[in-house]
Amino acid sequence: MIPSLIIANWKMHKTIKETEAFCRDFIVLSRGIHKTTVVICPPFTALAAARACLESSNIQLGAQDMHWEDKGAYTGEVSPLQLIDAGCRYVIIGHSERRHLRGETEEMINKKITAAVAHDLIPVLCVGETLQEREAGRAGHVVALQLEKGLQNINFSAGNLVIAYEPVWAIGTGVNASGRDAGEMAALIRSCLGKLNPSGPAPKIPLLYGGSVKADNFAEFLQEDMNGALVGGASLQADSFFEIVRLSEDA
Ligand code: 13P
Repeated sequence: MIPSLIIANWKMHKTIKETEAFCRDFIVLSRGIHKTTVVICPPFTALAAARACLESSNIQLGAQDMHWEDKGAYTGEVSPLQLIDAGCRYVIIGHSERRHLRGETEEMINKKITAAVAHDLIPVLCVGETLQEREAGRAGHVVALQLEKGLQNINFSAGNLVIAYEPVWAIGTGVNASGRDAGEMAALIRSCLGKLNPSGPAPKIPLLYGGSVKADNFAEFLQEDMNGALVGGASLQADSFFEIVRLSEDA
């Protein structure tokens, strides 16, 4: 059985003060949570504040992106070493907002995953099709290609990789994929992982669903072969995020 994992992706939201307030509230709410791993990915500017607040809890820290080099002349970038230094255990890689708004390529994503694994950071590789691709019947093909290219030459194992299926059309739109769509994609993802690493741990890699996840639709995904969620909007308030964590814990 794969332990549940719920990750908050705050994107470009929250100041230091807002981060501290969230963490204070969330720690109180989540005292009884033991089975579910909870990860918060604040903006870089709030990592230190989140780390200080979460220190005495089991809640883990993650980043929303990173560069693949350890250091160098890369203005505005943050390296794996700096993320580890800031207390991160996880890093989101290849989010569709970076693929589509920042021109991130499969090659860049592969370099980032390679660097994360080399540094013992757990990459959360985001994959997912656009609405156009889904309507053209290409969703499976697109996701398979993203996995193949993103994970090229990566020696992945159950403990060093998380895959998040985030259909682009479901992100921030309020229109979530159906549990059935997510379940079909989970099966396809596991089969791709199995082909990429035939002797490897495909059945044990945590798979998350992301895209307009809320407490009132989350149960649908838990019934499929999904092990948790990557949550955007609903992770910004401690109580709405906790509702999702609680459903995972009780499942
Ligand atoms: P929403 O939950 O706001 O749709 O965002 C999903 C997402 O992009 C998480 O990475």
